[in-house]
Parts: sequence; C-alpha cells; structure tokens
Amino acid sequence: MKRVSHLLAVATVCAACTAPSSSTPAPQSLYAPSWAALNETVHGRLFRGTPFAAPCFDGDGAACSALRAGYTDEWTRASAAGAWINTQWETCQATGEQCLLSDGGAGTFSDGSTCEQGSVPDYFIDVRDPGDAAAGFAFARETGLPLVIKNTGHDYKGRSSAPGSLGLWTHNLKNISLEADFVPEGCSEKADGVEKVVIVGAGAQWADGYAFAEENNLTLVGGSDRSVGMAGGWLQGGGHGLLAPAMGLGVDRVLQYRVVTPDGTYRIANLCQNADLFWALRGGGGGTFGVVIEAAILASPRVPLQTVTVVVPAGNKDLSRQLWSVMVANGVQWAEQGWGANAMSNVAVYVNPVLTKEEAAESMAPFIEFGEKLTAAGVEGVKVVLAEVPSWGTFFAAFSTAHVAAVGNSLALASRLINRDNFATSEDQRALVDALLAADDATPGLIILATTPVAFPSAGEDTSVTPLWRESIYHITVVSPWEVNASIEEKQAHYDLASASINNLRRITKHGAYSNEADVNEPEFETSFWGDNYAALLSIKQKYDPEGLLDCWQCVGWKQDDDRFRCYL
Ligand SMILES: Cc1cc2nc3c(=O)[nH]c(=O)nc-3n(C[C@H](O)[C@H](O)[C@H](O)COP(=O)(O)OP(=O)(O)OC[C@H]3O[C@@H](n4cnc5c(N)ncnc54)[C@H](O)[C@@H]3O)c2cc1C
Ligand SMILES: *[C@@H]1O[C@H](CO)[C@@H](O)[C@H](O)[C@H]1NC(C)=O
Ligand SMILES: *[C@@H]1O[C@H](CO)[C@@H](O)[C@H](O)[C@H]1NC(C)=O
Ligand SMILES: *[C@@H]1O[C@H](CO)[C@@H](O)[C@H](O)[C@H]1NC(C)=O
Ligand SMILES: *[C@@H]1O[C@H](CO)[C@@H](O)[C@H](O)[C@H]1NC(C)=O
Repeated sequence: MKRVSHLLAVATVCAACTAPSSSTPAPQSLYAPSWAALNETVHGRLFRGTPFAAPCFDGDGAACSALRAGYTDEWTRASAAGAWINTQWETCQATGEQCLLSDGGAGTFSDGSTCEQGSVPDYFIDVRDPGDAAAGFAFARETGLPLVIKNTGHDYKGRSSAPGSLGLWTHNLKNISLEADFVPEGCSEKADGVEKVVIVGAGAQWADGYAFAEENNLTLVGGSDRSVGMAGGWLQGGGHGLLAPAMGLGVDRVLQYRVVTPDGTYRIANLCQNADLFWALRGGGGGTFGVVIEAAILASPRVPLQTVTVVVPAGNKDLSRQLWSVMVANGVQWAEQGWGANAMSNVAVYVNPVLTKEEAAESMAPFIEFGEKLTAAGVEGVKVVLAEVPSWGTFFAAFSTAHVAAVGNSLALASRLINRDNFATSEDQRALVDALLAADDATPGLIILATTPVAFPSAGEDTSVTPLWRESIYHITVVSPWEVNASIEEKQAHYDLASASINNLRRITKHGAYSNEADVNEPEFETSFWGDNYAALLSIKQKYDPEGLLDCWQCVGWKQDDDRFRCYL
C-alpha cells in the first residue's frame, strides 16, 4: 500500500511543521507542504480522487443509479475526474485492486467486492489557470509525489493515471474562440496560408470544436471520436482524422501553444519563441513537456465533402478479402487525391474535401464496379453509396452516431503504420491484404484508417512525429478486449494477443506506429513513435523538465523502473 504511505509521509512531516517555533523562523521553503496549503494556493480547487464507481460500493442508491446510467457513456466518463474510457487504467492491473462494477454497469449490481483506489490519483487539482498547474509542479517537487496530467481519460496506454499520484485535471479549460488575424506572439506577421485560427482550451473536446466550426462556417481537422480532447494528448501526439490526408495531421495545423513547464513558468511556444518546445509539442506526446493550457489551431473554410460508403455482408472472409483488395489496389491513388477512410472487414467509409462530385465518382469507379460485379453475381446486401454532404459537421453527426467505440470496458490495443512501399506491386498488395486478414482473424475488429497526411504539402521536419507518418498510406489498429472479472494472467494474455496480431503487419512493414494508439509493449518504442527525432526530443525534455517531474509510459525520457508504473503488467 505505497499510496497510503506516501500520504502519511506528507501528513507526518506537515504535522511537525504546522507550528514552527517562533524564535527560529525557518525559510518558507524548508516547511514541508500540506494538502491544505496546496488547496489554498489553488483557491480551493483541490479535491480527492474518487474511483468513478465508488457510490455503488458506498451503498448510495441514488448516486449509484446515476452512475450506472452513464457507466458506458463517453461523455459521462470523460467528464468525471475518476473515470477513464478504458477501465483498466482506473485499476492496479498488477495487483487486481479495482473499483469496477462486476456486471459492467448492465445488470443488477451486487457482489462482495470492495472499492479500491487502483490507479486513480489520490488528489486532483481542477486546473483553471496557469497558476494551478504551477502549484502542482511545486508540490510534486517538494513532496516527491508523482504527477499525472488528465484531460478526458481516453488514453489507450494509461498515461493519464498513476497510483498514489496528484492529478492535474485540465477538463474544465473549455474556452473556444476565433481569431481572424492571428499572428503568433513574438512573430512579426501571419504565417503563410493562415486565414482564421481557433484558440482552444486544453479541455475542449472535438464535439465542441466541430459545433463551433459549424456555427462559424469553418472546417477543423480533428479526430473521429466526439469526446477526445482537442489540445491534450490527441494534438501533442499527432492527431489523425478522416480529413488528414488532404488537410494534415493535428500537429501540422497547430500554430501556438500556451504551456506551463515544470519550472512553473507559463510559456508561449511557437515558431518565434521557445521553438524547440513548440516542435516537441508537435508530436512528442502529452504528459511530457508541460501542462498545455491552450492551443491555436488552423481553421479552414467550410467546404462540402464527397462521401462513399461501401457495405458487404458481415462475417464473410472472401468478401472481406475482395473489399480490402480493392482498397489496397487503389490505396496510394486515393490517398493522393485526398480521400480519408475508416474501414473494417465489411464496411468502408471514404471522405474527400477537395474533389467535386464528378471527380469523386470518377475516382471511385473501382468501388462502383466492385459493387456492380457482386450484385450481378447474386450477392445480396451489397451497397455502394456516393453522396455529397454540405460540411464536415453534417458528415460527422451521422458518422459518429454509427461508429461509437466501446466505452467503460478494458482492452489491449496495437497498431502499425503501413508504408507506401507495401502498395508498390500486386505481390506487395497481396501480402498486405493477407497480413490484414491474418490480423483480423487473430483479433476481430481490425480498423483500417486512411488518415495519414499523404496529400498535405507540409514540411514534415516542423513536427516531431515519426517521419514515417508522411510515407504511410494506412494506420491500422487491432484490439483485444477482456471481461471485468479477467484474472491477471488473462489480461496479460490479451496484451500478448494484441501484440501477436499486429506482428502480422510488423513482419512486412517499416518500424513505425502512432504513439497515441499503440501497443503498450511496443518494441523499440523510441524509433517506432519518433524515428530519428527521438534524440532531439530527449534533449528538449531534459532542458524543460530536468528533474523528470512528468513521466509516462513509453513517453520521451521514460524511466520504466519508477514506482509510478507499478500497476502495469
Ligand atoms: C474511442 C477513442 C477514439 C479515438 N480516436 C482517435 C482519432 O480519431 N484520432 C487520433 O489521433 N486519436 C484517437 N484516439 C486516441 C487519442 O488521441 C488518445 O487517446 C489521446 O491520448 C487522448 O488525449 P486526451 O487528452 O483526450 O486524453 P487523456 O487520457 O486525458 O490524456 C492523454 C495523454 O495526454 C496527456 N495530456 C492530456 N491533457 C494534457 C494537457 N493539457 N497538457 C499536457 N498533456 C496532456 C496526458 O497526461 C496523457 O499522457 C482515440 C481514443 C479513443 C479511446
Ligand atoms: C479545498 O478547499 C475547498 C474550498 O474551501 C473545499 O471545498 C475542499 O473540500 C478542499 N479540498 C480538500 C481536498 O480538502
Ligand atoms: C475563458 O473565457 C472567459 C470569457 O471570455 C475569460 O474570462 C477567461 O479568462 C477565459 N479563460 C481562459 C483560461 O482563457
Ligand atoms: C455562414 O454561412 C451562411 C450561408 O452562406 C451565412 O448565412 C451565415 O451568415 C454564415 N455565418 C457566419 C457566422 O459567418
Ligand atoms: C467471467 O464472467 C463470465 C460471464 O460474465 C464467465 O463466463 C466467466 O467464466 C468468468 N470468468 C472468471 C475468470 O471468473
């Protein structure tokens, strides 16, 4: 129970120093800090971290019903400090300590288990201004308590929770505003091609951003999930979405950050000041260089989108092979024409913000032929639908209703970037489709994301994500979920299975994966996530966080042996 001993240590030292002898006044810095003093510094915004499901274990009937209703709802979870989207990050996997509903929130809850703190931080600061973040850093420095930054809790690798920690919760930094003539602070003029810029607080979520874009006749390039944060882990680690092929990754479109670095300084990072930090925050990952308070991101005019939806009957491997073969055969060309896509074994959704209706139909002729051929052969339930929609917001409203990720369960994820080389010859294409099918056999539910910035003319060296993002055509994810009652061995087996599944693709591809959606046990993670950029990222980490106050799993400068990682399997 290290969690308890940490707290006792703080309390004990503080008990000894609350009444210093008046004859020997010691300098402030020698006094150990207390939770009460921290709470005062943050204007009462310190609160206890409580596991999300705790009310159901406390016998609080009304509170329990309320939380059960939202147990598998992304908004409820993303808005609760003590909840994560994937529940294993609330638990201590290595010990089995947890506070989860044994029925997954679905049935009548009753069992004899107790509610344990797991990896939920003991305390949170509800960060409302830079001073709150600075107070958190000072407290961590003085007490040695681990710090975590938590925004929405979507992280797939547990980087927004840690046992016995103090959490800096950025959820309530929700401002979104528009600037027509944005000049990065310290620069003398607007950046090339920049018309409008949206300033977002770290806690704003993509549904907020897309609604704001609709109201203002803009297009924002964001993720495919409503409740992921706009400027937290998503943006700092890369940020892909269906518009990325034509319009760039999140990191390509960020113009400025305001960030509290571990020394407590509130800094502006852009091309004209703290440029090294700016570069690091454009792909180096969240939770590593400081607490981002807000980001300025490029907004484009609202445009109509061309969309194509292809559906074949589910559960038919041969049809999946045919569907994916058409996709792979046309993969490079479609990416270069600006198509983004999200596809599974029986459905593919393509979106394009740059082609006209006529160009889209011509470009997608192979899909139209594919559909006609299957229908002529008597296959029922095949659909190939082309449609123009007036904006990203209209598209997303329908898409995000049809594609909701599982929430409130536990899973192991693994991923791979698929290089252009893998599409070169028909043999390469066949090998790729074989590997995709093998991975989808091992862990059903593989997703093909054509969300790499293929047609976006960016200078890749301005960002710190692995340069392989710019040579890749697909980002592939696989998952292996488990039940709430799984044993430690079973959980380990699911992590191993996700790794084994993605090995089908690792065997034939260059070494690269997306840091935000990656195997918890990613081999050689430094080169996989950042390629040649890792060494420079590490020196920037050492410059801004020399004491290592921030640390997270497979992050830049990761110290794997640190006690804060004791709950990982
Ligand atoms: C259902 C689902 C769908 C997803 N869809 C997409 C997608 O379409 N495209 C895509 O690119 N990714 C997607 N992701 C992955 C997503 O990018 C990551 O989960 C990301 O880490 C989420 O960031 P967050 O801030 O919302 O979450 P959190 O879990 O709160 O934080 C994630 C990481 O960022 C750090 N962090 C958070 N806020 C800050 C801050 N203010 N300052 C500094 N560090 C911070 C945390 O410490 C942690 O390391 C998806 C994830 C899920 C679960
Ligand atoms: C912090 O102070 C506020 C306001 O006084 C109080 O409501 C809250 O309970 C305090 N937090 C803790 C952890 O004591
Ligand atoms: C958010 O907006 C409000 C109202 O415009 C403003 O008072 C506040 O300072 C803003 N907060 C941040 C963190 O920018
Ligand atoms: C958005 O565009 C519509 C139609 O062109 C127009 O009526 C409306 O005033 C615009 N709104 C804004 C905020 O610019
Ligand atoms: C977990 O629960 C499921 C039913 O929900 C049951 O089939 C399975 O045997 C249980 N596993 C363990 C390890 O108890």
